[in-house]
Amino acid sequence: MSWFALNLVIHILAACIWIGGQATVAYLMPALHDMPERAYALGLRFQKLAWSAFAILVLTGLGNMLFLHLGVSDLLHSRIGHLLDVKLILVLLSGGTALAHALLQSSDKRKPSRTLSAVLGTAALGTAVAAACYGVLIAT
Ligand code: HEM
Repeated sequence: MSWFALNLVIHILAACIWIGGQATVAYLMPALHDMPERAYALGLRFQKLAWSAFAILVLTGLGNMLFLHLGVSDLLHSRIGHLLDVKLILVLLSGGTALAHALLQSSDKRKPSRTLSAVLGTAALGTAVAAACYGVLIAT
């Protein structure tokens, strides 16, 4: 297996954790509705896994760019670069909304707005799925 292939495998596994983890936690959270402390502890534990995966996505994503010889000027002047531009905006949106979601959960003692929480969580997941689709568009 080449270094590029290995880097790509790690990139895809990290994407599985970032996307699959968010979907799984969102699906299971309602089961802890009556145990807010447990729900909070689960969320906190998931944060560590999720942000580690996000950091690996960014590092291996930069690695993909290096292996594909994609530089900053390609981001402006090539078809793949333009696809990557959109993908990077989606990655920023996913990370930003996930961060806002996490801060909202841990912000203060009062209960966070459920609607805002759901909107931010859905946005973080949806933009990550869209980023993955753009990743496949770049690769194919
Ligand atoms: C939410 C974050 C991200 C997700 C979910 C994600 C997901 C993916 C997926 C599913 C692929 C397709 C792999 C394939 O079909 O072989 C891919 C490819 C790619 N990703 Fe990401 N990615 C993310 C972040 C990043 C970042 C931050 C960068 C750049 C700094 C990046 C750069 C790339 C590149 C250049 C490819 C194409 C690799 C190739 O042509 O083989 N990704 N990504």
